[in-house]
Amino acid sequence: LPTPDGTLDPHTLHTALTDLRHPGSPGAPAVPVLVCATAGTTDTGAIDPLPDLADLTRAHGARLHVDAAYGGPLLFSATHRPLLDGLHRAHTVTLDLHKLGWQPVAAGLLAVPRAADLAPLTHRAAYLNADDDTEAGLPDLLGRSLRTTRRPDILKMAVTLQALGRTGLADLVDRTLAAARTFAGLIDDHPAFELHSHPTLSTVLFRPTGADDTTVATIRRRLLHQGRAVLGRAATPTGLWLKATLLNPHTTTDDLASLLKLVEGHTPR
Ligand SMILES: Cc1ncc(COP(=O)(O)O)c(C=O)c1O
Repeated sequence: LPTPDGTLDPHTLHTALTDLRHPGSPGAPAVPVLVCATAGTTDTGAIDPLPDLADLTRAHGARLHVDAAYGGPLLFSATHRPLLDGLHRAHTVTLDLHKLGWQPVAAGLLAVPRAADLAPLTHRAAYLNADDDTEAGLPDLLGRSLRTTRRPDILKMAVTLQALGRTGLADLVDRTLAAARTFAGLIDDHPAFELHSHPTLSTVLFRPTGADDTTVATIRRRLLHQGRAVLGRAATPTGLWLKATLLNPHTTTDDLASLLKLVEGHTPR
């Protein structure tokens, strides 16, 4: 069931996992295998209650995966890292550094606690790797990826980490999240706009006060067609919202005020 803030509700999850193991209707009970939580949802940037979900997942004998594609880089920031409490209890975590890591796509990573967890990647196939060639020193890219054909995505990430370091990235994360809070404040203070919720990461949902879905969709398309602004959209239990996913650490308060003015000017009367 969707919760108002778009996070996974532990009570609902507990009921769902219990029902799986003890189905009310005929049929063999299923064993829950994997719970997928999200640290930074695409729609609102919300973070699931990771410690509660880790407890529940363990109690039901399942594994926990956390999609931290968006929120994972908060780990760089001493200020925002506590939002990811519980992440270390996941069996696997995905990160996607094309958002709060400032990489061009593709920049996805799968993190596992032990190298042995990647054993399935060592699968051999005679047509792909000849052991005598590998032993003779020819490069063998198998065992490094789920995919056989892969660009060297890790190089740009390694260069960024080397150049900026943990603190450099933390600074970018902190500034970007600060810009989102500034934007939310501008919206909150503006009598013609409503704010969906105070941002957790850098996503801010807003709309002209009381705007229906058609109005919201129209504003977004007008701004796009006229080449003025690229806003996202998010469908929530309270209807459609304009979505600003802020990712530029150099965004100023003036930029954000101009964006709000643009939206106001493109709102159908
Ligand atoms: C929460 C979340 N998970 C996954 C993805 C997609 O990841 P990928 O592009 O690596 O498939 C996104 C967006 O890029 C996202 O916001």
